[in-house]
Amino acid sequence: MALYIGVDIGTSGTKSLIMNEQGEILAESSTEYPVHMPKPLWTEQDPEDWWQAVKKTIKAVVKTSKAKKSDVKAIGLSGQMHGSVFLNRQGKVIRPALLWNDQRTAAECDEITKRAGGREALISMVANPALTGFTAPKLLWLRNHEPKNYAALAHLLLPKDDVRRRLTGEFATDASDASGMLLLDVKNRTWSKELLSKLEIDPSILATVYESEQVTGTLLPEVAAELGLSTECKVVGGAGDCAAGAVGNGIVKQGILTASLGTSGVMFCHSDEPQYDTQGRLHTFCHAVHGKWHMMGVTLSAAGSLQWFVNQLCVELANKKGADPYKIINEEAAKVASGSEGLFFLPYLAGERTPHADPNARGCFIGLTNKHSRGHMARSVMEGVAYSLRESLAILGELQVPVKEIRVSGGGAKSTLWKQILADVFGQKACSINAEQGPAYGVALLAAVGDGAYKNIEEACKATIHVVEKVPPQKASQKKYNEAFPVFQQLYVSLKKNFADISMLK
Ligand code: XUL
Repeated sequence: MALYIGVDIGTSGTKSLIMNEQGEILAESSTEYPVHMPKPLWTEQDPEDWWQAVKKTIKAVVKTSKAKKSDVKAIGLSGQMHGSVFLNRQGKVIRPALLWNDQRTAAECDEITKRAGGREALISMVANPALTGFTAPKLLWLRNHEPKNYAALAHLLLPKDDVRRRLTGEFATDASDASGMLLLDVKNRTWSKELLSKLEIDPSILATVYESEQVTGTLLPEVAAELGLSTECKVVGGAGDCAAGAVGNGIVKQGILTASLGTSGVMFCHSDEPQYDTQGRLHTFCHAVHGKWHMMGVTLSAAGSLQWFVNQLCVELANKKGADPYKIINEEAAKVASGSEGLFFLPYLAGERTPHADPNARGCFIGLTNKHSRGHMARSVMEGVAYSLRESLAILGELQVPVKEIRVSGGGAKSTLWKQILADVFGQKACSINAEQGPAYGVALLAAVGDGAYKNIEEACKATIHVVEKVPPQKASQKKYNEAFPVFQQLYVSLKKNFADISMLK
C-alpha cells in the first residue's frame, strides 16, 4: 500500500491529512496557533509554533489511520505564502516571521521599485509590482530597521520551507511559493539575478527552486523516528497555499476558476503561458502544475473578516460553552434580505491587495441605520467579501480569461449562505467538489505524483476530483447585487484619501 501526507501550514492553524493512492482521505488533524500583532497592521508568527503544529498533526494522522511506517511514501507541504523566516548561520530563527498580511513595508516597496528602475522594469523582471505583503520588502525592512538582525542573516525561507528544512535538512522551495517573494523570474522559474543585484541581496540566502511534484529530500533520522515514519519518506516541493488549494480543487487547466474563502480570499485561474494584468492588480505566479502559471486576485481579509466580526463583536457567542457562533451568526444573517437593507462592509481590515494595492485601506461598515441588527452586519460582511472577489473576477473578465465554471472552497464556503451569496454576487453557479481540504489535499496529490503513483498532476486530479454540488444564482438577489456592486466599488474611491489621512494619525 502507498500512503501520502499533505500538510497545510495556514495562518490560523495547520491541517494535515493522510490519503491512499486513490485519493481517499483516511485521517485528518488540525491545530491552531496565534497571530501576534505588535502594532496595527503588523502581523507576525513564531516558526516554532508551525513546527510543533506540523509534528502534532502528522503524528495524529499516522496514529488514527494506523499507517505502517513503510507505507507512507511521501509528504507534500503547503503553506501561507510570502512570510519571512529569517535564519542565522546555525539555522536558528533570528526574529518572529512577518506574515503575508503585514503592512509595515510601504517604504521598502517604493525603494524596490526605484532600485529596479521603475514599476514597468520591475514587472519585466519578476512579473509583479512591489506589494507590502510580498517577501522581498520584508527583507529590506529587516535591513533598514534591524541592522543587527540583518547582519546575522544567512537564510531567508518561506513558512512551509522552514518546516521542510526541519523535516529534511534541505533549503528548498517550489516555483509557486517562490513567485510570491518578488525575487523570482516568474517566466523562467528561476531567481532573478538582475533584481537581486539591483537590490544588493546575496543570492546564497535563497533556497533551491523545484517544481511542485519534485522530490526535495527525505526525512532526517531523528524526525522520522519522532513522527513514526521511515527515513525513506520523501518530501516533495509542494506549493504556496493558493496554488496548492487550486490543485486540491482540480484547477489544473484553463476555464475553471476557484474562489476560496480562507483567512484571505483568492480568485484563481490557471494559465498555460504567463499572462499579465498590465495594471498589476492581479498577481502572475508560477502554478504548481509543472511548467504552468496562474493569475490570482487576493482579498486580504475574507473568512478573516467574519472571524474578526465573531471574535470582536459577538464575544458572548464566541465564549459560550457548547455554542457554535458561526452557526448562530449564519442563521441570523440568512433572515436578512440580500443587500443587507443598504448596509455595506468594506473588508479592508488588513489593508487591501486586489484591486487597490493599498496598505492604508481600512475596514468599514457604511450605511448603518437604527434598523440594522447583528444579522445585517454579519450578512454585509459576507457580501462585502463577495463583492471584493467579484472585483478580481471582473479584472479576469477584462483580460478575457475564459470562465466556464467557478469552484468555491475554503472554510467560509462551508456556509450554505455564503456560497449562495457568492453565486448571486458572481451571477454564476458556485460549484463544490468532493474533497473540502483544499491545499492539504492538493499537496498530498503532488506527493503521490512525486512518488510515481500518477503520471502528472492533471492525471491525479482527473482521477480523484469531481464536482458534487452546483448552487445556481437566484435571479432576484443577483439583480440586487448587480445594482449594489458599483456602489461598493465607489465607496473605496470616495474614502481613499480619508484612509490615507487616518494612517497619518499618531
Ligand atoms: C496570497 C496570500 C494569501 C496567503 C494566505 O498571495 O497572501 O492567500 O497565502 O495564506
